[in-house]
Amino acid sequence: MSTLIVLGSQWGDEGKGKIVDLFSQKFDFVTRYQGGHNAGHTVQVGDQKFVLKLIPSGVLHPNVRVVIGNGVVIDPRALLDEIEMLERAGIDPRRQVSISSRAHVIFPFHRLVEKVSEARPDRVAIGTTSRGIGPCYEDKIARRGIRVADLLNTGNFETLYALLAEDKQTLANAFGIKGVINYDEILADYKRMAEKIRPMVCDTAQLLNDAIRLGKRVLFEGAQGTMLDIDHGTYPFVTSSSAAAGGACTGTGVPPTSIDGIVGVSKAYITRVGGGPFPSEDKGEDGEKIREAGLEFGSVTGRARRCGWFDIPLMRYTAMINGFDSLIVTKLDVLDGFDEIKVCTAYKAHGVVIETMPAENLLLEQIEPVYETLPGWPEPTSGITTFSELPKNAKDYIEFLERRTGVEVGCVSTGPERMETIIRPGSKLERLLA
Ligand code: GDP
Ligand code: IMO
Ligand code: MG
Repeated sequence: MSTLIVLGSQWGDEGKGKIVDLFSQKFDFVTRYQGGHNAGHTVQVGDQKFVLKLIPSGVLHPNVRVVIGNGVVIDPRALLDEIEMLERAGIDPRRQVSISSRAHVIFPFHRLVEKVSEARPDRVAIGTTSRGIGPCYEDKIARRGIRVADLLNTGNFETLYALLAEDKQTLANAFGIKGVINYDEILADYKRMAEKIRPMVCDTAQLLNDAIRLGKRVLFEGAQGTMLDIDHGTYPFVTSSSAAAGGACTGTGVPPTSIDGIVGVSKAYITRVGGGPFPSEDKGEDGEKIREAGLEFGSVTGRARRCGWFDIPLMRYTAMINGFDSLIVTKLDVLDGFDEIKVCTAYKAHGVVIETMPAENLLLEQIEPVYETLPGWPEPTSGITTFSELPKNAKDYIEFLERRTGVEVGCVSTGPERMETIIRPGSKLERLLA
């Protein structure tokens, strides 16, 4: 095995950061392929906690090279801040980071456009992270975006910037927010930042393909989750990039024929931040209990995450979209002490059981979850590292999820730290990591 995609199988925050950091020990490269600093990937090492937003979660291993692929959108200010944050912690990320010359650049006016669009009274707010992610991808798709390569080519940058700024000024005028953006200041600031990132920029598609040809091992780190994917998620309550497995190829330039394995990360329950349908949401006491035990508050925006029960139809859908070889179930310890654990095993729409994920949001909003209830376990699972040591009911729960989703659970996480992890012997995941 030389390449592996690790991605979120729900609505994000599944614990990808912890898992990618742990698996990174076995890889030479870790690359992000989509999203931007809307992501918040937490890695806990002892009493140190890192929240990585743009830089791949392999960076804490000094011998791992980390790549920001072409599918990512980069706010240079956020990137430099993150580099400084790591430097303050004694890490030297400039040595490890490579940035795609084909990645698109976020500007401050992207954030402003997003704010205005989210506040429009005629629209239901998506509840975005307000990082300018969506508007930057809009410019990319509209073929007027500015890429890192353009940013580094001063003459060309000024021309492209003038065109983009004119476009945004027209938009700002239409929204009645004239004069709040200082375009010249932004230009000067971006020229300065371009020089700081220049040494890290290269053709990362070439870098990764050459590495794979030489037998190096590459881990692809998804951001967000499949249900937030622009095509396959709960549109329009999604992010603006391809978070699902296909995005790993378009977002890095590594072809599908070079991918050896794909694994999904899922919580032992489910959460969502922001608006949009959520069939197995628990707005009652149990949801609150999960939020408290799981510390379910956003790592980027601090917003309380909506909490609910494991959703089997959703997982079957995301397993189909991604072709999961194996599933990693995180935060099992958060369910410790529940008398009963509910699992959404089917959807009912207007009294009819449906087997597939509806495309219509309105229908998804109206869906009634069908629950089955499993017995909980009073014993703590925190920090357990072998499957056989888990309480019987916890093992039964994991095996129930496996049976109903049709995907093996190759790994169970029992705490935020690296060692608080079970890799199941004989699993496909174990073979993929060998
Ligand atoms: P990501 O965006 O998928 O990387 O996930 P986040 O970092 O946003 O959120 C996951 C949170 O759960 C972080 O605070 C992690 O430190 C924490 N976490 C990860 N795995 C476990 C686990 O197995 N148990 C517990 N209790 N916390 C975990
Ligand atoms: P990680 O990688 C959870 C959600 C936002 C909002 C929607 C669109 O940490 O799992 P955006 O700013 O991307 O345009 O917002 O997507 N969202 C996330 N939710 N985890 C994330 O990233 C998210 N990134 C975006 O809350 O509902
Ligand atoms: Mg997160």
